[in-house]
Amino acid sequence: MKTDNYARFARAHSITQTKRGLTAALDGEQLRIDVLAPDVVRIKISRGGVFDEKPSFALADEPTPMSIGFKVKTQGDRTELTTEGMRVVISHEPFAIDVYRPDGSVVFESVRDQHGAWSYGHENDSFVIRRRVAKSDPIYGLGEKTGGFNRRGRDFTLWNTDVLNPTASGEFTAQYEPGDLRADNSSTEFDPYYVSIPFFYHQDFSGGHISGSFIDNPYRGFYDFSAEDEIKIHFGGGQYTEYVFAGPDMCRILFQYTTLTGRTALPPIWSLGFHQCRWFGYNQDDVERLVAKYREVDVPLDAFWLDIDYMDGYRVFTWNKERYPDAPGMLARLADAGVKVITIIDPGVKEDPGYEVYDDGVKNQVFAITEGGDEYIGQVWPGDTAFPDFANERAREWWGELNAEHVKSGLAGIWNDMNEPATGDKDPLPMRFDQGKYEHERFHNQYAMLMAMGTTEGLLKAMPNLRTFVLSRAGSAGIQRYAANWMGDNMSRWDHLWLSIPMGNGLSVSGQSFVGADIGGFAEDTNPELYARWIQYGALTPFARVHSVINTIDQYVWSFGDEVLKISRDALKLRYRLLPYIYSSFVTASQTGAPIQAPLIYDHQYDPKVRDLDDQYLFGASILVAPVFAAGQTKRDVYLPEGEWFDWHTGKHYVSKGETFTVDAPLATIPMFVRAGAVIPMLEEAPLNTKGLAPKKIQLHVFVPEGNIEYQSMLQEDDGLTFDAADGKLVRTEFNFVRNGDRTLLEARSTGKGFDGFAREEFEVIWHTAQGASSKTIANAGEDFELELS
Ligand code: GLC
Repeated sequence: MKTDNYARFARAHSITQTKRGLTAALDGEQLRIDVLAPDVVRIKISRGGVFDEKPSFALADEPTPMSIGFKVKTQGDRTELTTEGMRVVISHEPFAIDVYRPDGSVVFESVRDQHGAWSYGHENDSFVIRRRVAKSDPIYGLGEKTGGFNRRGRDFTLWNTDVLNPTASGEFTAQYEPGDLRADNSSTEFDPYYVSIPFFYHQDFSGGHISGSFIDNPYRGFYDFSAEDEIKIHFGGGQYTEYVFAGPDMCRILFQYTTLTGRTALPPIWSLGFHQCRWFGYNQDDVERLVAKYREVDVPLDAFWLDIDYMDGYRVFTWNKERYPDAPGMLARLADAGVKVITIIDPGVKEDPGYEVYDDGVKNQVFAITEGGDEYIGQVWPGDTAFPDFANERAREWWGELNAEHVKSGLAGIWNDMNEPATGDKDPLPMRFDQGKYEHERFHNQYAMLMAMGTTEGLLKAMPNLRTFVLSRAGSAGIQRYAANWMGDNMSRWDHLWLSIPMGNGLSVSGQSFVGADIGGFAEDTNPELYARWIQYGALTPFARVHSVINTIDQYVWSFGDEVLKISRDALKLRYRLLPYIYSSFVTASQTGAPIQAPLIYDHQYDPKVRDLDDQYLFGASILVAPVFAAGQTKRDVYLPEGEWFDWHTGKHYVSKGETFTVDAPLATIPMFVRAGAVIPMLEEAPLNTKGLAPKKIQLHVFVPEGNIEYQSMLQEDDGLTFDAADGKLVRTEFNFVRNGDRTLLEARSTGKGFDGFAREEFEVIWHTAQGASSKTIANAGEDFELELS
């Protein structure tokens, strides 16, 4: 991307302190800096002298002006805005912006050339900023991206894309020579993907500090991290609004980013169970038979998903009456058996006069129109389709009501697909938004989020005390407030199993913690070994759903014989036994933004060895997972950050100085390690689903190091379904583990008002030491306790 002709502002002048920061004049435009927290500032540059105060729907709320101490001081040719956590330096002429921490370390520095700084260049409604970067500095984040977790050395486009559709991906594959992985939309390097999040982290590799940048701009973005000494960020329209995070720790930045854009709402507990999905023309009997089969083979299952063939001719919000003569009856019987049903809802509404949803949409003028005022028509499963104008509040409400009506039959959640929006072989650009007011580019990347917003708000209006569950393919900054994301159409291939690890980690550190890939792989036939490895791993990701495309081999847990069935059963029973731990991790994510699937860098940012480590991850705060992602492999290298760890399966104790260990990984197990000091709350036995889950006993697996340590863990119990927990109807137990010399102590402090259905009577504390395990049961219905290992 050539930006040499871009215009740059020569001079910043008339700098004025405001209540929240400062403003300056820039040759006809305005610069504004708002202090939002000691470690967060917002930098804006106007267009035509006007600021766009709501460039997108990314923010949960406009940050409330708080009185945060800062100083503005001009000295000679520069003005400095200083907070407790950062120092923004504005050079007047030539105009430049650079940001530092109080210790002098760099948050960002603009690139300089003979004409001045590249703080902001603009041309034809697009703008560019260029920043300095050292050769070895890693870049992380940017949401759902292919390739390694460290984004250096590559460039990325932010433009939500229906990846496997050659019309949508063709523009991008065509840029590369055949043979280049990026010329292949099924490769692990193809870009762009379904979700676009303009938020990234830059790490100063020499010092370990991290800074963050979120550009609140929904237009097509281009992030170029391929050069050795600079990064270039380009947007094709809209205004420049950047949130700058000084860190210096990744967890602090993610906390602040999710303070702005919102956090994963605490999901219903059943959504943390196992999900069976497949694109297939099932009928009602098939569904009931398959659910029964899960019981028969003794594998837990919480949800069965229906893909597009449940509909009448792919008309959204309808049922195919031949296949499902009595959907409510089927749903009621499945609900009795503890299995929820989720149906797909695509945005495209069949253009079909006489079809109620379409007619109603036309009547209410809620479909997107073109510049000339035509109804925009794309091509999706039902053929010609109109698209709800989700940028418009009325359209979102209309959609919300349709969803609320649809789930009345007994459905538990909604699956949103094709919401990039995918328009088949029709150009999406003529689709305008908010009744034709805005060009497509402004809302393209936001379309899925606004769809999920409409859906969630509609469901909440109809059922105000029931947590919602929406799964979305596409998304943008803030999507985590309304939906979980799966990683779209992956391939049943080993390289795609691996890819989902850095991709999941990338989404997680970009605010979206509820993520998972199609287990077994979506496109092409899977094979028994790949399936076994994938389900072991998928069982330890935030969202666990098996799914595959039509006309491929069966991908049920029983489809590959007894060995794979047993592996699947063991893997899923482990997930279900871990539900108290997984659920508590979701509670933390909903409160702090901390990922559930985390890259090691999240907790070990000052360990240079984890910079490029993207084939293992942390599941919750204390479990490290190292999936196997190659055929025939029965050993793998696992890096254990400095400290003590325990092998989950064998109990073997490791003392690591930050070393790589080669561990056994027979087909029956996935390498898994627990951090010493951790308390892992578990169910004694795996239930077949989460219906009525009210354990009398919870096991506390405590991993006891040899060395001294203090470590905190948390367990939250609540009804798992309503918002009562937000009113304190819960039992939250904070564990403090202390090992000090010969003394090993577990302290537990409990808070909360309790809730209907709370049944716990005891904790079984299971101490795991280097020498082996021992257990002690204590009566406990939510009281504080202290227990010493003797
Ligand atoms: C898209 C989705 C996939 C779904 C299919 C049919 O390809 O990504 O999950 O099965 O459409 O609805």
